[in-house]
Amino acid sequence: MTTTVRKAVFPVGGLGTRFLPATKALPKEMLPVVDKPLIQYAVEEAQAAGIEEFIFVTGRNERAIENHFDLSYELENELKQRGKTDRLEELRHWLPKAGQVAYTRQQQALGLGHAVWCARHLVGNEPFAVLLADDLVLAATPCLKQMTGAYRGGTMVAVMDVPREHTSRYGVIAPGKIEGRLIEVKGIVEKPAPAKAPSTQAVIGRYILDPAVFGFLDRHVVGAGGEIQLTDALAAVIGTAPFHGFRFEGERFDCGDKAGFLKANIAYALARDDLRDEVAQFLETRPPGAPKRSRQTAS
Ligand code: G1P
Repeated sequence: MTTTVRKAVFPVGGLGTRFLPATKALPKEMLPVVDKPLIQYAVEEAQAAGIEEFIFVTGRNERAIENHFDLSYELENELKQRGKTDRLEELRHWLPKAGQVAYTRQQQALGLGHAVWCARHLVGNEPFAVLLADDLVLAATPCLKQMTGAYRGGTMVAVMDVPREHTSRYGVIAPGKIEGRLIEVKGIVEKPAPAKAPSTQAVIGRYILDPAVFGFLDRHVVGAGGEIQLTDALAAVIGTAPFHGFRFEGERFDCGDKAGFLKANIAYALARDDLRDEVAQFLETRPPGAPKRSRQTAS
């Protein structure tokens, strides 16, 4: 079987309850970090890794995502007429080409494993990537590109070391042999309590999966949190083909969490020439621990 990864699945059907009311009518993947929606970061990361087909597994409110990855005639015309060619280019260079994007509805929010299973016919029988857009990785080489560069078949999950008290937020691997950035995966468990976690190597939202995983997802086994977990299907494929954790280079931000989302905004702003100085200066005027008065309460 080929080891070229051409397709990527983006589960975007979550309710985003942690960001209400911002996510009342907007998918959480459309929340911007600085000036770009989370989902665009994920799609651009996939493009950088050579992905040619983008499969969105949506829930309600997916219109905003569909529109975002479509041409916008009025806006483009307006920009053209005003001679704003640089802005026009910013709107276009990352747009997938006609026919490269597919949408399928996850009719019920039954879990990440179920969301990925919903894409089975669109994926077919070849290895594919899964990107969770609320995990954002700031890196010199985009995280998925690092992974596809090292991929030799089977299953690969991006992993990072986390504090033991955080294991219950993640899928956690039982590590075997380590070779450079690759860690052999001997076991994987969803959201283990710190005392039960097989290690502190946690999975973040970047996966390269063998289509054999669909055979296990077909069984709709309900796992942690009453959901059909991708992690449980991954545990089931161990031993059938190579399975590695990939210790990526870069800084990962959990944008599904308010503090993580704010940190991402600051880090991405500080990484930009047009914003760095002003944002850094602002942060300097607010040393940690200093009493702050919000505008609302100031009189
Ligand atoms: C999901 C996966 C979990 C993984 C995490 C990474 O959990 O189920 O294994 O570690 O993404 O962000 P969620 O964050 O959706 O609860």
